[in-house]
Amino acid sequence: MQFPDNLQRKLNLRTEQGIYRALKTTQGQIDFCSNDYLGLARSAALQRLVTQETEQFSDYLLGATGSRLLSGNHPVYELLEAQLAAFHQAEAALLFNSGYVANLGLFSAVPQRSDTIFYDEASHASIKEGIRLSLAKAFSFKHNCLDDLARKFKRATGHVYVAVESVYSMDGDQAPLTALAAFCQRQGAYLIVDEAHSNGLFGEKGEGLVVEKNLKEQVFARVMTFGKAIGSHGAAVVGSDSLKNYLINFSRPFIYTTALPLHNILAIKSAYSFLPSLQAERKHLKMLAQYFNQSLEAITGRPGLPESGPINSIFANSVAQLKKMSELLQKNNLDVRPVFSPTVPVGKERLRVIIHAYNTQEQVDLLLQQVQTTIS
Ligand SMILES: Cc1ncc(COP(=O)(O)O)c(C=O)c1O
Repeated sequence: MQFPDNLQRKLNLRTEQGIYRALKTTQGQIDFCSNDYLGLARSAALQRLVTQETEQFSDYLLGATGSRLLSGNHPVYELLEAQLAAFHQAEAALLFNSGYVANLGLFSAVPQRSDTIFYDEASHASIKEGIRLSLAKAFSFKHNCLDDLARKFKRATGHVYVAVESVYSMDGDQAPLTALAAFCQRQGAYLIVDEAHSNGLFGEKGEGLVVEKNLKEQVFARVMTFGKAIGSHGAAVVGSDSLKNYLINFSRPFIYTTALPLHNILAIKSAYSFLPSLQAERKHLKMLAQYFNQSLEAITGRPGLPESGPINSIFANSVAQLKKMSELLQKNNLDVRPVFSPTVPVGKERLRVIIHAYNTQEQVDLLLQQVQTTIS
């Protein structure tokens, strides 16, 4: 059967533009690429705990066997949701099968036809997809720009939702959460914060940036994902009991899918039991991130991040130069991946660098050395 010619043309265009995506396996290089910020995905102690927990179940099943609303609601799901709500200092938490699905499930179900959503233009694809599925009106505002949000706010009708990320997945900068929360409170708007890249890392025990900034009462919903610092898979929407009950009734990505397997639930549960004790890891990661941010600024002359975190970017003059840099780094055993459009806007292609708790100062120095060589 012939592949449709219109699709083939789109693929060819990607190749011509140098932005063709192809899968690549990880090769055991120095990790400046994965989202395993705290090293929990590779923690032998955590793996042992998950195995022990798994062995305690006489009714252990490999698969959930159904949606949570039918056969798929093992009591451990409810225990985990109670644990998540307590940890993140909220009334309730509802599990979703991934962060992507949580954003689809939240944004498609909550804002209604006569309502309005304002979202940061740098929001993750899953937030944008969820908004596309919603019947509400939606407007983007300039990245981290409260003035632009305030200007656009004149178009608001009905209930108003404002969607941001606490730490942005590509740029690595933070949303001005305190100012946003105050703005939303003044306007009577509902603030939604995706904490995919702050969960586990910010706050005394890793509760996230909303808790660290003491804003939990002013935030309507938080999305906590488990594929990054938690080292596992899945997500939860954290908020009020009413929000949870509403989503159970109306969120189609929650209702019409098989629940996560028990093993996955036990992995999340066990990882959360580790989080409070990972203070040294969080501190080391932040120290390294700050060191990298400042050193990169000195090398490139480009302003670094105002508040450094686990995500940073190295820019180049062209996509071709970016590719060359990335190949050179890979050859030197450094796993740093380029990110092209449409994942980031045209002109904002970059090497995305992720700093982990298990990276060492020597590894970061090696990376900086190589960056300096390729840039000069
Ligand atoms: C901000 C943000 N939200 C949601 C997601 C999706 O999370 P998951 O990987 O669990 O689907 C990501 C993942 O890349 C993300 O960066």
